[in-house]
Amino acid sequence: MKQIGIIGSGAMGAGIAQVAATAGHKVIVYDNNQAALDKAKTNLESTLKKLVEKQKLTEQTASEILARTKYASNLQEFKNCGLIIEAIIENIDVKQKVFSELETIVSAECILASNTSSLSIASIAAACKKSNRVIGIHFFNPAPLMPLVEIIPAITTDESITIESKKIIDSWGKVTVLTKDTPGFIVNRVARSYYGESIRIYEEGMADFATIDWALKTYGGFKMGPFELMDFIGNDINYKVTESVWEQFFYEPRFKPSLTQKRLFEAKLFGRKSGRGYYNYTEGATMPSPNLNDELGKYIFNRVIAMLINEAVDSLYLQLATKEDLDLAMTKGVNYPKGLLKWSDELGLQNVLNTLEVMYELYGEDRYRPCVLMKMMVRDGKRFF
Ligand SMILES: NC(=O)c1ccc[n+]([C@@H]2O[C@H](COP(=O)([O-])OP(=O)(O)OC[C@H]3O[C@@H](n4cnc5c(N)ncnc54)[C@H](O)[C@@H]3O)[C@@H](O)[C@H]2O)c1
Repeated sequence: MKQIGIIGSGAMGAGIAQVAATAGHKVIVYDNNQAALDKAKTNLESTLKKLVEKQKLTEQTASEILARTKYASNLQEFKNCGLIIEAIIENIDVKQKVFSELETIVSAECILASNTSSLSIASIAAACKKSNRVIGIHFFNPAPLMPLVEIIPAITTDESITIESKKIIDSWGKVTVLTKDTPGFIVNRVARSYYGESIRIYEEGMADFATIDWALKTYGGFKMGPFELMDFIGNDINYKVTESVWEQFFYEPRFKPSLTQKRLFEAKLFGRKSGRGYYNYTEGATMPSPNLNDELGKYIFNRVIAMLINEAVDSLYLQLATKEDLDLAMTKGVNYPKGLLKWSDELGLQNVLNTLEVMYELYGEDRYRPCVLMKMMVRDGKRFF
């Protein structure tokens, strides 16, 4: 089994290291901040201890995982790695510097992967002489619990590297989907409408946060409403992802961020972690009650699901991934109750198209234009599955 190197021992790096060591690999972890490295070590010990207490791991396995995980004080110790996954700060200059330094240390066969959420893999690979061995391997947070991993070859990546990377991550018990090197990959692109259209409905004064959350949970079966979810993720992270996807898509109106969330971000109302976001989480605060109006609830659901499906259909049309992988990504990466393409078959693509066409006509905004594939499929009476 290949030795796995992890660069960056923050939330993601530490989680990925745990997954790789649990799968039986020798793992070596590096961070340029000693405190972060120490914290990762202590956290892994306490996580494994809890898993033993819950009888999810034997004591023997836990101590083997710990013995397989080493912590390095410099990158030279990565010379025997077969796969290195970088999970450091989201900054292209810093990432490029690390990748070009790694190239001078590792063997020619070593795969170099980035866990970046928003940077292009092509831009990271460009820092390397052997850019054909650089790939995106994008885990979700928390890595040990979230099953999905997006595999993202850059324009320069060798096919053999893609196949090998997918094989390794599959062997870790993860669900892998293959996708193109485009902003937000699958999940962080397609999920934008869940937040964006919900905020838009709020901004238009149609419903408050609690009602929109209620509508999507009740009529859509989503585990969390969009506002609860944004507060859970953090409005700092969620806002920045939206802004980055919008900018990288050359200001595509479908991804346009909202001033509502920008103000929350500026006011440091990040959500649960700061005590207040769309909702107030301070002790003694009461949660607002939704307006349980059936007609309004259905309207909210139909509008948001139409926007989500439009994005999924557009992603298929632009060959971002296969229809199976697009649906898997949303169910395994963000726990949607159904894949969006399967969902559109159930709702009737004609109905989804009608919702979009009514909005496109009414608003006159490009944001609501239906994807050409949706129109063609309705014209030809086709389904996705
Ligand atoms: N947090 C998420 O939900 C999430 C999900 C998927 C992907 N990602 C991506 O994973 C990466 C890491 O995110 P995170 O949330 O774990 O961040 P984090 O801030 O928790 O951890 C980053 C770690 O990298 C270290 N670091 C910074 N510069 C370094 C360098 N030059 N060399 C070595 N170590 C360095 C920091 O000390 C820190 O410990 C980012 O690219 C992010 O976009 C994050």
